[in-house]
Amino acid sequence: MSDGVASVLSVVGMAAPGTTATVGAAAPGTACHARITGWGSYAPSAVLTNADLERIVETSDEWIVSRTGIRERRVAAAHETTASMAAVAGARAIAVAGLDPDEIDLILVATLTPDYWMPSTAALVKEAIGNTRAAAMDVAAACSGFVYAYATAHAYVTAGMARHVLVIGAELLTRFLDYTDRSTCILFGDGAGAVVVSVSDGPAVPHGVELTTEPSGAYMIWLPAGGSKSPPSAATVSRGEHFIRMEGRETYRFATKTLASTALAAIAKAGLRPDQIDLFIPHQANIRIIEAVAKGLGLPMERMFVNLDRYGNTSAASVPLALAEAVDAGRIRQGDNVVIVAFGAGFTSGAVAFEWTADPAAGARAAAIRPDEIRVRLPVDWDSVDPIPAQLAAVLAAPGPVAVPLDDVVPGDPPARAPVS
Ligand code: ACO
Repeated sequence: MSDGVASVLSVVGMAAPGTTATVGAAAPGTACHARITGWGSYAPSAVLTNADLERIVETSDEWIVSRTGIRERRVAAAHETTASMAAVAGARAIAVAGLDPDEIDLILVATLTPDYWMPSTAALVKEAIGNTRAAAMDVAAACSGFVYAYATAHAYVTAGMARHVLVIGAELLTRFLDYTDRSTCILFGDGAGAVVVSVSDGPAVPHGVELTTEPSGAYMIWLPAGGSKSPPSAATVSRGEHFIRMEGRETYRFATKTLASTALAAIAKAGLRPDQIDLFIPHQANIRIIEAVAKGLGLPMERMFVNLDRYGNTSAASVPLALAEAVDAGRIRQGDNVVIVAFGAGFTSGAVAFEWTADPAAGARAAAIRPDEIRVRLPVDWDSVDPIPAQLAAVLAAPGPVAVPLDDVVPGDPPARAPVS
């Protein structure tokens, strides 16, 4: 950052009564640009394959792969939470950005599976990563949550209200699924991804944001009980109202329509054409949805990054997990135009088109962050009941044979999948 830009940015401060709160405000007329400077991800080690799900519900690997493209998903261990996964991904993104955790001014965690109703998951992440000075809050926009949070971070930085914002998408969905409902429990998995959005004195680069919300779809994907409309009780639990419900076909229709239109709007706002986009990072919900989007945009599937075969739908974590993998796999280079695009409950959708400017080689710094060194503090006088759903615990304790699809094995390389442990 140039001295010029640095000098007009102050640290987060409280305003005196009657004055305007300023959070690192820029001088009038000072334009701040924002860039992604760090990225990172975390996925739990336990793998739940389609073969494992065949032992829980009436389904088949063939049905799941042909209808969704998903082969396996990750399941958080009992000691893990949304905050713990978020903190590892976030610490990795900070390391890649080459920052000290205390240089982060604002922490945003997009999640629909927070550790608690309160405090925010972002507050727990702040302590776990060793930050003492950031503001912290959660963002609720379901699977579009990361894109919404990224757009918020970008606005904070370009408005001169923050120099470095940590944006995380993290979900622990396997604890909110009904393992007697085969139409939902096969879809979702656990994980986290993060980026750091930083102020830059470099030249402006293409950047366009489009966010939408369609409340007509409010009850197409929802979790009925636990909120103020229906507080948790023995009755709500016995009715299974603490599990995610979804109208799959309606959601599918919305997704195929809105992903393309939202992406196109963001691309246009960035002053680009679809054929100028080097890589799309779409929400990893269903391969058929992603194929429909590619077709709608008139682009080959090579321009779509896909990792849902290995993680399933990780909701707000899906886009940042895929983005971090794409950069680390060499699929994104400096100067590439990238689109992140997602849809989810609400119905919400969001897309950002932007030029990637960071050096992908910096991703190697993430290796310095070891998950077992990051701790989310627990209360001294309370512990949760065993959080793992009984059906999952039984399958994870007695793993079946590991099916490694032949097309995923590179000759000479070890198998890509570890047995469930
Ligand atoms: N295994 C075997 N059969 C199944 C399974 C399963 N896991 N699930 C459903 N079926 C059966 C149904 O019972 C039905 O049987 P029937 O014809 O005898 O009644 C048949 O398969 C077809 O069911 P559909 O629901 O119509 O199947 P569809 O082809 O629509 O695929 C799916 C379902 C995969 C859920 C699809 O609709 C979809 O992907 N929708 C979008 C979901 C999504 O992307 N959600 C993301 C947002 S999530 C968020 O924001 C948190």
